Amino acid sequence: MTAAVAARAVTRRPRVSPLRYPGGKAALYTRLRKLIRDSDLAGCTYVEPYAGGAGAGLGLLVTGQVSHVVVNDLDPAIHAFWRTVVEEPDFLMAQIRAVELDVPEWRRQREIYSAADEADSSALGFATFYLNRTNRSGVLNGGPIGGLDQSGNYKIDARFNRAALVERIRILSLYAECITTTCRDGIDVIAEYATQPDTFIYADPPYFEKAGSLYMNAFKAEDHDNLACVLNRLHKAPWLLTYDNDPRVQELYAQRRRREFELSYSAHRVMKATEIAVLSDSLVDIEDGWPLDKTEGT
Ligand SMILES: C[S@@+](CC[C@H](N)C(=O)[O-])C[C@H]1O[C@@H](n2cnc3c(N)ncnc32)[C@H](O)[C@@H]1O
Repeated sequence: MTAAVAARAVTRRPRVSPLRYPGGKAALYTRLRKLIRDSDLAGCTYVEPYAGGAGAGLGLLVTGQVSHVVVNDLDPAIHAFWRTVVEEPDFLMAQIRAVELDVPEWRRQREIYSAADEADSSALGFATFYLNRTNRSGVLNGGPIGGLDQSGNYKIDARFNRAALVERIRILSLYAECITTTCRDGIDVIAEYATQPDTFIYADPPYFEKAGSLYMNAFKAEDHDNLACVLNRLHKAPWLLTYDNDPRVQELYAQRRRREFELSYSAHRVMKATEIAVLSDSLVDIEDGWPLDKTEGT
């Protein structure tokens, strides 16, 4: 094995989240793994109050780095999806195997999504998943890949590999008892879990910029202020926060350690964005740039 191949082997992340998420943090897997281990939190309960695709946390769960994951999202459609993964994986897998991948079906699923009937949680969960996998960049309110006339180079089924998606759901279903799904305000979730032992909170809230177009629940200025108020008050609990590189992060978290790092995104085109990680006082430090952890195995 060459050094480059060996390095790739230890930094490769498990791809278990079935959702495509603009701004998703699955790529933080190896960095979070090291932070959790170095902070003496291996085997803890991992909490994502703003879960979205929850890619990093679920990767940490299936590789045994953490023992339990709390997947919270205030968006009822995203919550319905996660609930269906945990409570009705067989339904989800059957739907993924059989559903049509064309524009008439896309319209049908979009109606279910728009109706947002939480009483039929599994139908809403599947419709959310369907749109996430068939829409451009996974944006739920966007249009289908290839356009409504399917004249684009890529078609509606381009991101819907049935076998691979069924396999992700099957793997997650094996961990169903280790996944708690909730639909609460992230602040309440933070307040509840911050006081519990052996818990690590990773907060990735909507960003200051551009969040409005990507997520259903964009933050207003006062939401950012309230979150900072709660996290600063709980500065002794182990939490990590990531944000876009906005001057307001420095103002709101002036008393906390802040480290810049880079992530690649492909929401509209592949680009690198500089982000900021804010650390609570009880976590070990990370180097500026938060380099990938190439030293430890999975
Ligand atoms: C930046 S995304 C999280 C992406 C996630 N870290 C990932 O890797 O996919 C923010 C998420 O927070 C959710 N959200 C927005 N406001 C919220 C609130 N007040 N409480 C909980 N979740 C919220 C949005 O629905 C969105 O899914």
